[in-house]
Amino acid sequence: MIKRRSAREIELMRNAGKIAADARQVAGKLVVVGATTKSINDKVHDFIVSHGAEPAFLNYCGYPASLCISINEQVIHGIPSSRKLLQGDVVSIDVGAKVNGFIGDCAATYIAGDGSKDSERLIQVTRECFYEGLKFARVGYRVSDISRAVQKCAESNGYTVVREYVGHGVGEEMHEPPEVPNYVEIPRKRADPRLLSGMTIAIEPMVNSGAAAIKVLGDGWTVVTSDGRNSAHYENTILITDGDPEILTVCEGMP
Ligand code: MF3
Ligand code: CO
Repeated sequence: MIKRRSAREIELMRNAGKIAADARQVAGKLVVVGATTKSINDKVHDFIVSHGAEPAFLNYCGYPASLCISINEQVIHGIPSSRKLLQGDVVSIDVGAKVNGFIGDCAATYIAGDGSKDSERLIQVTRECFYEGLKFARVGYRVSDISRAVQKCAESNGYTVVREYVGHGVGEEMHEPPEVPNYVEIPRKRADPRLLSGMTIAIEPMVNSGAAAIKVLGDGWTVVTSDGRNSAHYENTILITDGDPEILTVCEGMP
């Protein structure tokens, strides 16, 4: 069952979304050459807590940190560590904040110092994939219309989309129905629900510069590209309305 949020719940989702988006902004500014991913995690953790929220990822299915920080060939779920960022690293940061029982979930990819033109293009296209998907986040469309738009944007730019991890409904739980894939399944195995006002979902393209294949490292979390090429991630929590979709993980100077 896909939940439809009441006006009061939407207000709480906006509040959680704002804190998550502000936390992402703080994290992005900390992506500098020489920073350890643990130092970024700890500062953003403190930011979330000082704004009255909880880091939604910490202890989620046993996840050991407040952020996911995934570098270069790491796609998602990188665990913050003593690793120092190097010039040109492609750094995907995923943040979740929970407050008053509701969650905001968002991510973006940043470059430490100066990046290559290729890295900048990968990041820009990944962001564009989100906005292409968003065009179909409207009453009258189905989840697969979002998926198709995301996939088309990535592939028409010479990139691939990850299959094994998908966007999702988000609200009181981090992962609620529906699943929101970044590709069109043929043959279709998942339900392909119609979008209705009041639904809150996370659209989150994970875009690889090489092949789509991924694997999970021995730590049980870190997802990497099988061919070792770079990957980028961009995510917002959004609300389906009777008009334009509303981005809930919104703040000044969005990445
Ligand atoms: N933000 C991720 C998502 O969009 C969830 C992170 S899962 C965690 O689904 F376990 F790493 F927290
Ligand atoms: Co998500």
